[in-house]
Amino acid sequence: MSPKNLIEVENLTMRFGGLTALDELNMSVRQGEILGLLGPNGSGKTTFFNVLTGLYKASSGSIRYDGADVIGKTPQEIYRSGVARTFQRSRLSLSLTVFDNIVIGDYQHMQHGLLFNLLRRKAFRAEYEQYVEKVRDLLKIFSPPLVERLFEPVETFTMIDRRRIEVCRALMSQPRLLLLDEPSAGMTHDETDELMQDILQVRGKMSHLSVVLIEHEMNVIQRVTERCVVLNYGRKIAEGSYAEITADANVQTAYLGEAA
Ligand SMILES: Nc1ncnc2c1ncn2[C@@H]1O[C@H](COP(=O)(O)OP(=O)(O)O)[C@@H](O)[C@H]1O
Ligand SMILES: [Mg+2]
Repeated sequence: MSPKNLIEVENLTMRFGGLTALDELNMSVRQGEILGLLGPNGSGKTTFFNVLTGLYKASSGSIRYDGADVIGKTPQEIYRSGVARTFQRSRLSLSLTVFDNIVIGDYQHMQHGLLFNLLRRKAFRAEYEQYVEKVRDLLKIFSPPLVERLFEPVETFTMIDRRRIEVCRALMSQPRLLLLDEPSAGMTHDETDELMQDILQVRGKMSHLSVVLIEHEMNVIQRVTERCVVLNYGRKIAEGSYAEITADANVQTAYLGEAA
């Protein structure tokens, strides 16, 4: 018996003018798995996230999330239904505090909107306190030292802490699917190892959570993912365990091609 698929992608094609960024892609994301999404630069990995989160509308094909069609839904609807992401380039507001940056991740559920100055009014105080507790609880799982620095501006933090803050922001919405776009970019090996440890820890605590990880570091893929899909020119060229995809001749050619 195979585990249930949270995401089912069928014949998904995304064209930008004459360029086909995703070409008849078929793949799935299983409930509770950590799936590695690999491929040379420009192979369509980020485009897949952009279509899945409603930023781009696919040219053809379908994506089902928990059985329901995704294409045609707004990014807000998709986010509310439980799909959260981080971006390849940081989207933190550096002058704002850790709390402000993380709490934005849950704005869809807020009763009183995003005007934080309003939160100071008595009527909003209770909700504000609830959010402080919620952010604290999340940081306790993800990175306890950050709890002490909740109201410091993000610009005072190291790269790895900034990444942690971005992942926490995505987790604030209590997603069922977390999409991570090259979270290790710009970090050292040791920092990457630490971040992946944190991600594994969070997944241990939220066992229902599925994760799709776009990552270039093969040792990270090997250690963290349970299954991989490899893209090249928008097509799936291999799928399977780390051992299977690294032994695959098509994958070797695609990567050697890029190096050459
Ligand atoms: N908004 C866009 N407009 C035009 N071309 C795009 C756009 N987004 C991505 N592309 C193109 O689609 C291809 C796949 O890009 P991308 O998904 O970013 O690759 P990856 O994340 O695997 O490096 C690339 O050739 C890229 O230039
Ligand atoms: Mg990309």
